Amino acid sequence: MSRSRPDLDISRHLIEPAWPTTLAIDEPAPPIDWPSFFGNPNPVELEVGSGKGLFLANAARDHPDRNYLGVEITKKYARLTAERLVKQKIENAKIWAGDIRTVMPRITDFSLLAVHIYFPDPWWKKRHKKRRVFNEELVASVARTLEPGGELHLASDVEEYYKMIRELMADDRRFEERPAPVPGSPEHDLDYLTNFERKYRIEGRPIYRANYARTRAVTITEIDASTSSIA
Ligand SMILES: C[S@@+](CC[C@H](N)C(=O)[O-])C[C@H]1O[C@@H](n2cnc3c(N)ncnc32)[C@H](O)[C@@H]1O
Repeated sequence: MSRSRPDLDISRHLIEPAWPTTLAIDEPAPPIDWPSFFGNPNPVELEVGSGKGLFLANAARDHPDRNYLGVEITKKYARLTAERLVKQKIENAKIWAGDIRTVMPRITDFSLLAVHIYFPDPWWKKRHKKRRVFNEELVASVARTLEPGGELHLASDVEEYYKMIRELMADDRRFEERPAPVPGSPEHDLDYLTNFERKYRIEGRPIYRANYARTRAVTITEIDASTSSIA
């Protein structure tokens, strides 16, 4: 797979497990120890489907006291993201080239400050919808890994997908809805949430946003009990 800057050393920013990662979904998943992974004890935020890494680089630059892990299944984009991080001398972000389903099991309980999912692929065809990254399995993983009060940030340009997400989240006692941020006017070409956000805002397409905070319950068992008693 080609890279735009093969001269750059991206080895500290790119995590590239054996390929194809989809074969590794059911393999045992050793937990990630965040302080050793990032070399510091700062809180960690996760982005699912980072694309070319605009959010990851901007967020890491704006919050040097936090660490960022992006997960991107398309190897070419993961490498471009790593190059972006290296070029900008960003030390508090890394990109994992792989399927989010292989990474979530490695993340320990209540260890994330935030999860970001921006413009997930809609998979329009009915028979492909099961490939959507936002599903009950992901919600369960986010509920397990977000610390109490930690936030799930979402944006999509697809109203039908957005409605499905809202329906999935609506009765879930593990989350409380929070106001979604209203973006200001961009000051330059990189002053956007993500690459897709830039494209869609320039095209004038509607963007649907949502935020949810992990409720401050004490254990997963307690949450599961309260959820099942509602059903
Ligand atoms: C529509 S793009 C949005 C990229 C970026 N978030 C943005 O807004 O510019 C969706 C991204 O999710 C990635 N993706 C899809 N399924 C994934 C999965 N299971 N695990 C990790 N990344 C995934 C795709 O390769 C693609 O780069």
